[in-house]
Amino acid sequence: EKGGYDHFMLKEIHEQPQVLRDTLREIKAIQQVVDEIREIKRICFVACGTSYHAALVGKYLFESILHIPTDAIIASEFQYTANALDEETLTIFITQSGETADTLNALRAANKKSKTLAIVNVLGSTATREADHVIYTRAGPEIGVAATKTYISQLACIYMLAATIGQKPDIIEDLRKLPEEMEKILEKDELIKDIAKTYKDESDFLFIGRGFSYPTALEGALKLKEITYIHAEAYASGELKHGPIALIEKGTPVVAIAPPPLFLKSEVHGDKEFRNSHTLTLSNVKEVKSRGAEVIGLGSEDDEEFKKNTSDYISFNPSIREEISPILYIIPLQLLAYYISVMKGEDPDHPRNLAKCVTVV
Ligand code: M6R
Repeated sequence: EKGGYDHFMLKEIHEQPQVLRDTLREIKAIQQVVDEIREIKRICFVACGTSYHAALVGKYLFESILHIPTDAIIASEFQYTANALDEETLTIFITQSGETADTLNALRAANKKSKTLAIVNVLGSTATREADHVIYTRAGPEIGVAATKTYISQLACIYMLAATIGQKPDIIEDLRKLPEEMEKILEKDELIKDIAKTYKDESDFLFIGRGFSYPTALEGALKLKEITYIHAEAYASGELKHGPIALIEKGTPVVAIAPPPLFLKSEVHGDKEFRNSHTLTLSNVKEVKSRGAEVIGLGSEDDEEFKKNTSDYISFNPSIREEISPILYIIPLQLLAYYISVMKGEDPDHPRNLAKCVTVV
């Protein structure tokens, strides 16, 4: 049942191109939900763990591209913060299992004040019965405790939702290019194994990224923590100089995520350089490198300047720009965590202290 793979996690990582193709077929169902909803002035995403990282991508997408005020809230914090919900707010719950206790509690509270939508993988789960509207991610059963293919499918649903609400068919066009790019990244298996071998005995990792790459940094660090038990922290690159750069010493591995940037005029800042996450992350890379860090870079294959400041480099098609990158750039980080886990003799499918579904608060 592992389809020839050593673990479910590896099988599920390799299923991701097909999962994306399957999820993209949900576009009609998503259009129907959007037709039913209408009149939305504000969006509030709520989720836990990996699903929260998908929520955070949703915040960057809806605010920067559609200019809809959007929050992303950790479900267990929802009761302490979300008092501004109203009829014009759509509260979107993202949950693979549809049974996570913190997420269900928040859903029950939000149902009283706002319209609710649940993005769920498990058919017939509690969240699908209690939310006003439902979108299924159609990733199929996920056995590995560490979420992989369901994250990809959640992201695809969020992008399709944004494309439909904002009437931006170009987003769908971009998504359609991705399964093939995912297959190319999965072929970089040997490179990622080599990187895993180099760093498997390190005790601390730092993950950095800006904008759309910040959720990827968080998710990459979570994967590493969950299945290798190595301490990993993720920071928005701009935060480095506000504290964590003090941790860098000779040999500290820093995973830096810097896809080619999206240039958008910022309504607030009015200047197109403002969104140049790439130049700014590159200067952070130089800062950590000059303090002895070993930089593992994730970026475009034609980005010579980034490459020369790294010890290891995982390269992507230059046409995949920042705004769509979360769906692709997470894949080598899932593989990196997987291979380090296996090389350390751990069982990536059954990490200690964790359950697939957290039904207690
Ligand atoms: O079923 P859910 O999506 O609601 O689960 C949320 C988290 O518990 C889950 O994503 C968890 O963080 C995973 N172990 C991540 O790999």
